[in-house]
Amino acid sequence: MSSITIVGTGYVGLTTGAFLAHLGHEVTCADVVEDKIEGLRRGEVPIVEDGLDELVREGLEGGRLAFVLGAAAAAADREFVFLCVPTPQRGDGSADMAYIEAAAREIGPALAAEAVVVNKSTVPVGSTRVVERALGRSDVSVVSNPEFLREGSAVHDCFHPDRIVIGSDDQASAIRVAALYKAIQAPLIVTDPSSAETIKYASNAFLATKVSFVNAVANLCEAVGADVREVVLGMGYDRRIGFEFLRPGPGFGGSCFPKDTRALVRIGEDAGYDFGLLRGVIAVNEEQHARVVSKVLAQAGGSVEGVTVAAWGLTFKARTDDRRDSPALHVIDRLVDKGARVRAYDPTVHGPLGRIEVCDDPYAACEDAHVLAVLTEWDEFRWLDFRKVRDVMARPAIVDARNLLDSAALRRAGFAYQGIGRQ
Ligand code: UGA
Repeated sequence: MSSITIVGTGYVGLTTGAFLAHLGHEVTCADVVEDKIEGLRRGEVPIVEDGLDELVREGLEGGRLAFVLGAAAAAADREFVFLCVPTPQRGDGSADMAYIEAAAREIGPALAAEAVVVNKSTVPVGSTRVVERALGRSDVSVVSNPEFLREGSAVHDCFHPDRIVIGSDDQASAIRVAALYKAIQAPLIVTDPSSAETIKYASNAFLATKVSFVNAVANLCEAVGADVREVVLGMGYDRRIGFEFLRPGPGFGGSCFPKDTRALVRIGEDAGYDFGLLRGVIAVNEEQHARVVSKVLAQAGGSVEGVTVAAWGLTFKARTDDRRDSPALHVIDRLVDKGARVRAYDPTVHGPLGRIEVCDDPYAACEDAHVLAVLTEWDEFRWLDFRKVRDVMARPAIVDARNLLDSAALRRAGFAYQGIGRQ
């Protein structure tokens, strides 16, 4: 078993650290936020992620998982150091490498001879070299090992990855990193660093393309009188297409797809390639927010000035508390700009949120509302008492931006119902 330090205890770092400790490795997770480290030492996980609390507690109790403040001391004498720090988007769409470079500069002098630095953050193509330079150590190798975890099922994804990708110019280091995962059954792709980095971006960009494609098809269905759910059913049986990632909605969001698609366009531009297809994917996504807003406006009779709109769901998707780049918030922002009063409910949000009144239960959010917009696909929304919803609303109208609810039952109950890509 190996000694590993993880730098950065966000969604990726914390999940990866707890997972590697479960596999039997000795893992220390480092972060710069003192409160977070103190909480984690007590087993308090600061994010909503299925199964992560148990995994962290198990690691702490077994003595295989520790949390420390600051990266340098934690990186000394370790065989592997994983960089899991954020790469936020800069104004020009490119990924900001400042955190990665700073972390590499900090740990460089402390690293043991022959340590391997593993880059898990999503970084622009060529970043392995940038990290090598920032470390300033010729005896340490840098390996790219991108993560493909989905928030909400990240723990499951650690144990059941579709593939493990390792990018390195040094075969021996690649083999050492691969050995960390030997208990996991998955295809292993060992390649050069630039290809590994590109695999991560291209995978996210392709998935984002599927979402924008199905949203565009949904818009077409509305225009021609087809039903996108039937269309996806008929398409998905073609094994080359499949059913996954073809759920129409208010557009993709989160900390990854919007940032990574823009970054890949930028990477192409810098290298002299115009990735027009991906620019189209981003444009369709932004239009999709506007289309949901238009549907709410239509249900409200043309204007939401002074109108109360109820919103169910604020996170970028269900089963997470993450609201970064959430389509729900983009839609709500536009509605508030147009004069709406928005009362929202989300199982993970309590207390006021900017210009949104946050309610503690879904029925309270609907009081006096002229339209209810379903913006995140939380399963619990399906099973609510819609007669009660109808009775508290000023007017029973629903815009179901996730096609989550039973439209026929709602119409029978007296609601005006509008979904995505269907009549
Ligand atoms: C995504 C990728 O799925 C992971 O493989 C990757 O590791 C991760 O980004 C990352 O780069 O770190 P995640 O951001 O957790 O994971 O979210 P997804 O489940 O992929 O969903 C992204 C967005 O697309 C959400 O807003 C979701 O609602 C939307 N979506 C997804 C749809 O609108 N329709 C679909 O059919 C699927």
